[in-house]
Amino acid sequence: MIGFASKRIVTCDPAVGVIEDGAVVVDGDRIAFVGPRGQAPAGAALEDVGERVVTPGLVDAHTHACWAGSRHAEYAIRMAGGDYRDIASAGGGILSTHRAVAAASEDELAASLVERLRRMGSLGVTTVEVKSGYGLEALHERKQLAAIARAARHDGVPSVVPTFLALHALPPGADRHAFVQSAARLVSEVARQGLARFVDAYVDQNAFTAAEARIVGEAARAAGLGVRLHVGQFADVGGAELAASLGAASVDHLEHVDPSGIEALARAKVSAVLLPVASFTLAQAPPPVADLRRAGIPLVIASDANPGTAPTESLPLAMALAVRTYRLTPEEALLGATRHAATSLGLGDRGVLRAGARADLVVWDLPHEHALVQPWGVAKARVVMVAGRLLAP
Ligand code: NIG
Ligand code: FE
Repeated sequence: MIGFASKRIVTCDPAVGVIEDGAVVVDGDRIAFVGPRGQAPAGAALEDVGERVVTPGLVDAHTHACWAGSRHAEYAIRMAGGDYRDIASAGGGILSTHRAVAAASEDELAASLVERLRRMGSLGVTTVEVKSGYGLEALHERKQLAAIARAARHDGVPSVVPTFLALHALPPGADRHAFVQSAARLVSEVARQGLARFVDAYVDQNAFTAAEARIVGEAARAAGLGVRLHVGQFADVGGAELAASLGAASVDHLEHVDPSGIEALARAKVSAVLLPVASFTLAQAPPPVADLRRAGIPLVIASDANPGTAPTESLPLAMALAVRTYRLTPEEALLGATRHAATSLGLGDRGVLRAGARADLVVWDLPHEHALVQPWGVAKARVVMVAGRLLAP
């Protein structure tokens, strides 16, 4: 048994809170003990990390981390005054990454994803949800999901939760109705092959309607997969009500959601995944955080890592922006990137430091969890452990 003794252990477990002068002991891939240092099991080899704060490993619940190409040109267009919709209607945006992903091999996609996952791990992230959604056509979506599965099996990376993003954009020349039907058929194939745990759809103006997303959402439920939806990034087109009626695990973005949508989410216990890097890049006003909070909706913070609207790999950056621009408290930001994020992914075994949980933890080169939400711009994780194994620094 190995472990860490620290002046400050932030368990993210509501029943325990913060342990001062504590220890976390790991046995194999599980946590064996969390508590006062003096009560740690005899025989555990404890490393004293002094004043460094220890937290659960971070969980990034929304990424598009499997991609190829570069979108630097469109950033310049945006800075010159063009918006996301102008860029999309000029053939840029998602379709530009689609072309790069369609041209890439499964090997190339897997190799670049492994590198990205490694860098995410070095930032303290121990679980990453990764969406497909740039392949668009069945052939390339299958390739993207296979690349995600391949990267997930790699050593030395965070663990991966794959999501089939069935409706992201209409491929060039496709018929809308036929495309939605074929995406729904692909849902059952992907489920049979174990290539995804969730199905996602982009419900927004200039994307897909709630009625179209319902078709893939129902296919997901029928195939035993969970549902997460992109909702209200640019306009409220009824995505929150759809998510509630499908029993979705999460609705993501939510810059635009009306009070009845919020009420539906609260009633159906859907988590809200907030993506402050995307609204920062797009210079958008924040979601109605105070209303979501008042409704008791769990707030999750994720990176949205993608080459266009959230060109980052950093969940800590998203946490910093959640505090600075969305006015979350530091506690909310940390819970949103640990326990609430894990719950939204259906993972009850992580996001907290608790005996029996998976041994995912971070020793930070920082003295307090509030220091975590400052925008460092460099890695501050000193030790990152995934299922009891240390990630290489
Ligand atoms: O979450 N909103 C749609 N999807 C992504 C953007 C992906 C892209 O621009 O490549 C998002 O922001
Ligand atoms: Fe997204």
